[in-house]
Amino acid sequence: MQAANTAEKRQPMSKSELGGVIVLDFGGQYTQLIARRIREQQVFSAILPCTASLAEIRAYQPVGIVLSGSPCSVYDPAAPICDPGVLSLGVPVLGICYGLQWISHTLGGKVERSETREYGPAEVDLRDGSALFAGLPRRLKIWMSHGDHVRTLPPGFQVTGVTGSGLSAAEDPARRIFAVQFHPEVRHTERGSERLSNVFVDTGLLRKNEFQDTLDLLENRVGLRVIGVDAADRFLARLKGVTDPEVKRKRVGAEFINVFAEQARQFGETRFLVQGTLYPDVIESVPVRGPSATIKTHHNVGGLPKDLPFELIEPLRELFKDEVRGIGRQLGLPEEILSKQPFPGPGLAVRLLGEVVPERLQTLREADAIVVEEIRRAGLYEKTWQAFAVLLPVRSVGVMGDERSYGDTVAVRVVTSEDAMTADWARVPYETLERISARIVNEVAGVNRVVYDISSKPPSTIEWE
Ligand code: XMP
Repeated sequence: MQAANTAEKRQPMSKSELGGVIVLDFGGQYTQLIARRIREQQVFSAILPCTASLAEIRAYQPVGIVLSGSPCSVYDPAAPICDPGVLSLGVPVLGICYGLQWISHTLGGKVERSETREYGPAEVDLRDGSALFAGLPRRLKIWMSHGDHVRTLPPGFQVTGVTGSGLSAAEDPARRIFAVQFHPEVRHTERGSERLSNVFVDTGLLRKNEFQDTLDLLENRVGLRVIGVDAADRFLARLKGVTDPEVKRKRVGAEFINVFAEQARQFGETRFLVQGTLYPDVIESVPVRGPSATIKTHHNVGGLPKDLPFELIEPLRELFKDEVRGIGRQLGLPEEILSKQPFPGPGLAVRLLGEVVPERLQTLREADAIVVEEIRRAGLYEKTWQAFAVLLPVRSVGVMGDERSYGDTVAVRVVTSEDAMTADWARVPYETLERISARIVNEVAGVNRVVYDISSKPPSTIEWE
């Protein structure tokens, strides 16, 4: 296509880009992940289109080259190719999936077409003597996503790994060309990368189905391996008898750290904790006019215990949410994650006014699910900043059937905002509000009144506590 025009412009911008690993992109869905995994090993990595010239590649003075996957077959008329000279630049080459097939096809092996795809987890048996797999166990769980497979290897290559479906790793030690059919960059591949451990804590203060849905999303859509920890009872125990919003925040923050510290002990030595703190969290948690001006000690900033057993890394600390979403988009994260509305760390604890007890959490969770469902149905989820329910600590008189009721009140809060620093109440159509109100009163036991919050920030805040 136009690659030839742009090709000459690709060159390293600074010295820090020299001496890393170049990933040549054949259009694979995991190409960015490959570069990320390499960078996690503290090695610079840049992605170039597979059409990059040898001169361009050499300009980066690479110490290794990775050939990515591709949705294509090497037999497609428009199959992406790179200059075969990359295989003799004198640096090691690793082909991943299509990369393996392209290498085999180019150097005289035989790739077999397949109409069906092998997709998902598998196990590979590694052969002894492979330079690539030195030090690894003989059997690994891996992640496959391919159609074609290599039937015959080019001269000089030997098989270094097999799965049930056949050859899945090979290398030519003399030319230092290595290739795998599977995707080591995807987290499901054991030992693919071991530098980051992801922990997702169920505080018992999450929205309905949020714990399971989020775990599924991160594992299946993003390819992260995540350890889910059910700590609901511990958080509830810490919140027993607490009604003050700031005390709730601090208790939740402290318990988070306890859970992370316990998990970290199981990983061995863990020095860092990565937090997704954003700029507004910082601004609003720091007293600008003396202690009384602190608005809320967002638990991940002001609410952290003093004797933190980790060094904190907060890569997003200087950024607003829309900027973070922009980065996510560039990294190719699924839209489902990018468009997700923010949810505070202390969760439902700051949306349930008064003491947090299981029955009231259940009431709030059900009402909140209805709000979100109806806002989505009305096409407003992506157009609003946050939409949620708040359970108030007042009861009021109503009439249900012919009976007097004395029940709970739910406030519905839907706001528009750019960055949460200021916000306005959303002009949700009456019909949607009507459905929300009717459904909550009918479907959530104990609630007989629904009110809509029409306050902006300032003078109110988005959350009620
Ligand atoms: P407020 O209520 O201060 O909220 O207008 C601004 C934004 O911050 C979220 N929020 C929090 N997030 N820990 C968090 O991680 C907290 O303690 C906390 N309090 C509020 C809130 O949902 C909104 O998006």
